[in-house]
Amino acid sequence: MTERDRRAHHPIFARLFARMSLAALAKGQADHRRELLTGLAGRVIEVGAGNGLNFAFYPISVTEVVAVEPEPYLRSLALDAARAAPVPVVVTDGLAEELPARDSYFDAGVASLVLCSVRCPADALSELLRVIRPGGELRFYEHVRADSARLATLQRMVDGLFWPRIAGGCHTSRDTRANLQNAGFKVEIHRGFPFRPCFLLAPVSPHILGVARRPAGSPAIDTDLRRTL
Ligand SMILES: C[S@@+](CC[C@H](N)C(=O)[O-])C[C@H]1O[C@@H](n2cnc3c(N)ncnc32)[C@H](O)[C@@H]1O
Repeated sequence: MTERDRRAHHPIFARLFARMSLAALAKGQADHRRELLTGLAGRVIEVGAGNGLNFAFYPISVTEVVAVEPEPYLRSLALDAARAAPVPVVVTDGLAEELPARDSYFDAGVASLVLCSVRCPADALSELLRVIRPGGELRFYEHVRADSARLATLQRMVDGLFWPRIAGGCHTSRDTRANLQNAGFKVEIHRGFPFRPCFLLAPVSPHILGVARRPAGSPAIDTDLRRTL
């Protein structure tokens, strides 16, 4: 990864996202975040934590959250949210594709509205597979490629034309469920639903929420080795 790739500075998008995410929370997203995190326990890594909107919803059975966030403005908001969280949260700089964590250290991982934005979903998921213990789970809440041909076409168009440039690298048309399976996770629980807090967000309406597991006994694929394959 080049030095340019390491920089995830999106100052305008970050400020816009911080406002819009609060509006989405009030329009039903709070329930999604609660559902995403219910029942988690032990050590958790959250990638691309943004302004830390998930933190308030972690159950007290979680003993430690390491929240990785590369964007400086959002990270500063996440630090504020961490201080008010019901569980211990450490916020740190870093990228999902190069997680600052030991192999198999975490009982669970959390990816919410982030696999659309990482530069390489395969590398990010490979890293999550590495740091989650065998048998541990990955909770995911993501907007994804539409099932409807018409909306999927619109998604491909906006991705090619402008969306990633104005939305902090976000892509509307990623097939995250397939990416999870290709990375070696077993998708155990999965539901899809539309969620569109405002008209402009129509291309990112299709959402999935669920639980994927790192199979017990599965070796993590070495990221460097995988790149050479
Ligand atoms: C749409 S926001 C979602 C934030 C948060 N996860 C949430 O649920 O509200 C996408 C986040 O992914 C972060 N991000 C982008 N590229 C990333 C990467 N390569 N590794 C980790 N986080 C990344 C952005 O900085 C931003 O905070």
